[in-house]
Amino acid sequence: MKRMYRAVFTIALAAVGASTASTYSLAQGTKDAAINAALNAAYNKYKDIQEGKNADYIPALAKVDPKIYGIALVTTDGKVYTVGDVKSEVSIQSISKPFTLAKVIEEQGPEVIEKTIGVDATGMRFNSIVSIEFSQKALGGPEMNSLVNPGAIATTSMLQGGTRGEIWRTLIGFYSDFAGRPLNVDEEVFKSEAETNQRNQAIGALMYAYGYIKNNPGQATDIYTEQCAVAVNAKDLAMMAATLANRGKNPATGKQVMTPQNVPYVLAVMATAGLYDDSGKWLYHTGLPAKSGVGGGLIAVSPGKFGIAVVSPPLDDAGNSVRAQKAIRDIVAQLHANPYDVASR
Ligand code: DON
Repeated sequence: MKRMYRAVFTIALAAVGASTASTYSLAQGTKDAAINAALNAAYNKYKDIQEGKNADYIPALAKVDPKIYGIALVTTDGKVYTVGDVKSEVSIQSISKPFTLAKVIEEQGPEVIEKTIGVDATGMRFNSIVSIEFSQKALGGPEMNSLVNPGAIATTSMLQGGTRGEIWRTLIGFYSDFAGRPLNVDEEVFKSEAETNQRNQAIGALMYAYGYIKNNPGQATDIYTEQCAVAVNAKDLAMMAATLANRGKNPATGKQVMTPQNVPYVLAVMATAGLYDDSGKWLYHTGLPAKSGVGGGLIAVSPGKFGIAVVSPPLDDAGNSVRAQKAIRDIVAQLHANPYDVASR
């Protein structure tokens, strides 16, 4: 039996509390039941909580139904498990950032990111301007990462392509390959953020002034804003996460979307900075690389096992979905998927 299957069966064993059955005697149905039980329990536990609030600094996000709540888990062998609303689309927002990072690493290799932007946590809010000054002056070099806005806009500026149109088509094609279906932009969200993103424009200009962005910061901020407006549902996000979990190969379409050896670099930055100033707290409880977005999505990656996503728009003060964090934390514990817990192997 392949190692991967053994690992998933171990998850099932732990989740159903079985201790004596051999992995061979466990049916697929038992594994399915264990995963579905974990998803259903987390869904029901947090369905009615009232904490958090939709993002409203992007006006279109304030109008999104705060009741949208769905959980999807996709295993590296392509099985999809869902509960709740996994069809309603929200904007991907910052969950786009690791995929743009992946694209730049694919095009230019991992060293360029480490040297020009950095791969360290800022410990500050996702749109902090102080973090740019601090990285520049106090730390004397690129001590940032591609998942906070300054580093993300700079990462987008590094995408290769002749025209803006070419860069965009390549980027959304790359995201779509991760999702396993053609993705589109929510034009209302794009317009709404483009009209109100003066802070990100200032961040782009400052990153240009300090030489992190080599040219055309306005275009970089514009493409960044469009990438944040890509519409996705919980299943899309789980498939994108599962593709990272599966060494860059989409488990549903079979397409090798990125080079397997480049995936760990993306996951490392997600582990370091995926939930911004709450990244440490997240890792403390789950041990998994993850990424949140102010649209209400959250993905987490269990390398070699599964990708999971929750969509629920109400956010906490750090800008992370309240229900999504709670639900994924519970599911990771239930499935013994924390890689720092050796029992999970
Ligand atoms: O740039 C922004 O502010 C948004 N387009 C994305 C921020 C975001 O998703 C932060 N996430 N938790």
